[in-house]
Amino acid sequence: MAAVEFRDLVKDFAVGLRGVKQRAVDHLSLSIARGEVFGLLGPNGSGKSTTIKILLGLIRPTLGDCTVFGVPSSRVEARLDVGYLPESPYFYRHLNGRELVRFYARLSSQKSAALDGRVDEVIGWVGMSEAADRRVDTYSKGMLQRIGLAQALVHDPRLVVLDEPTAGVDPAGAAAITALILKLKAQGKTVLITSHLLAQIEEICDRVAILDRGRLILTGTVPEVVGLGNRQSLLVDRLPAGELEELRAWLATRGHTLEAVQAARGRLDQVFLARTGQREAAATERIP
Ligand SMILES: Nc1ncnc2c1ncn2[C@@H]1O[C@H](COP(=O)(O)OP(=O)(O)O)[C@@H](O)[C@H]1O
Ligand SMILES: [Mg+2]
Repeated sequence: MAAVEFRDLVKDFAVGLRGVKQRAVDHLSLSIARGEVFGLLGPNGSGKSTTIKILLGLIRPTLGDCTVFGVPSSRVEARLDVGYLPESPYFYRHLNGRELVRFYARLSSQKSAALDGRVDEVIGWVGMSEAADRRVDTYSKGMLQRIGLAQALVHDPRLVVLDEPTAGVDPAGAAAITALILKLKAQGKTVLITSHLLAQIEEICDRVAILDRGRLILTGTVPEVVGLGNRQSLLVDRLPAGELEELRAWLATRGHTLEAVQAARGRLDQVFLARTGQREAAATERIP
């Protein structure tokens, strides 16, 4: 049984007068396996958040249906095993971070005996231990995302749904969230994530789907989606022009074509993290 199944999902919103309809999700069928980290991608307004809200039973589809571990998403039981970080979380701002996470833990009927330990544990996972006693209204956007993530994990759900968890988070914070998602995957959790950080998505997702105007454009594993057919890249130190020509000629004698020669480059986020010394802090200190 799949963790999540969308079957021919359609969502129309009424916009304006005279019953004008806007189609946010257009006949979407998609299945997410248990234990999979699945990336839902697409430009703004392509229907990602709407799809997620249907999964969570927050809105009803116009047509089609959605199941979570086999249970229709309209039923309350479907939500028991789901953790959710909304796109723009709205939290009770007069609470401090620990009280906030504790509040959500109690909402999901966690037993009080084990509750405080669990609350502190997930706050540690997201690197918010030091700020846990500060009021939520003093938090930066990135800190709100982190405490929201703690809130989504506190009841140890089997499915974690993260709608743009890295929005407004600095590179070290994004790396910490990446490490945390990989940790959840190692625990066998299923993760559904939307993000604009495509490099991050590429690093963590088993499969991705791309939506455009509510329609599923493309789905597959990351290598399937980004692979350039049956081609390889070779990484060597810089060749003098003459040797490069020799190599090209040699390849031609074997029936191969040298298609591209370009300077090798790393990724800007990796350089940033290495130079600001935050890679380790992000990856090891914050995540047990
Ligand atoms: N409550 C709503 N009422 C009317 N239109 C909506 C509502 N929610 C979303 N939409 C529209 O549905 C489309 C998809 O939105 P959304 O799912 O938020 O996209 P994404 O998360 O991919 O950016 C957009 O055109 C948006 O304006
Ligand atoms: Mg969205």
